[in-house]
Amino acid sequence: MANCSSCHGVETRGNGPEAAGLLVAPPDLTTLSKRNGGSFPQALALSYIYGDPQNSHLSRVMPEFGGAMAEDLVPVEIEGVLTPTPRELAGLLFYLENIQR
Ligand code: HEC
Repeated sequence: MANCSSCHGVETRGNGPEAAGLLVAPPDLTTLSKRNGGSFPQALALSYIYGDPQNSHLSRVMPEFGGAMAEDLVPVEIEGVLTPTPRELAGLLFYLENIQR
């Protein structure tokens, strides 16, 4: 709610109060699975929220959250691979998986 709803909206449908002013529209986060052939794109969602080290912060509209959460890592199985993941991000990932329509 604190970090994501301004753009993605309270109901995560991509209609937050900041959405209209952005160059790229924030996507509906309840259709990630639907848009990925029916399976939840864990690695994509995780890397998207964490931030892509290959890309600078400025090359995309959405901010990166990895740095702010990198203190407390837990092992999470991401598409079959145990991946050290910030604890808050792991919770967020399972939340997103649960709200898929
Ligand atoms: C400043 C507005 C903004 C904020 C805040 C924001 N996002 Fe985004 N998000 C976007 C935009 C715009 C995109 C589309 C791609 C891009 O970055 O240009 C996006 C893309 C995504 C994607 C990829 C979706 C897809 O369809 O591939 C995910 C997952 C995501 N956001 C989750 C989150 C989460 C979780 C948070 C909070 C921790 C968050 N976002 C905060 C604007 C935002």
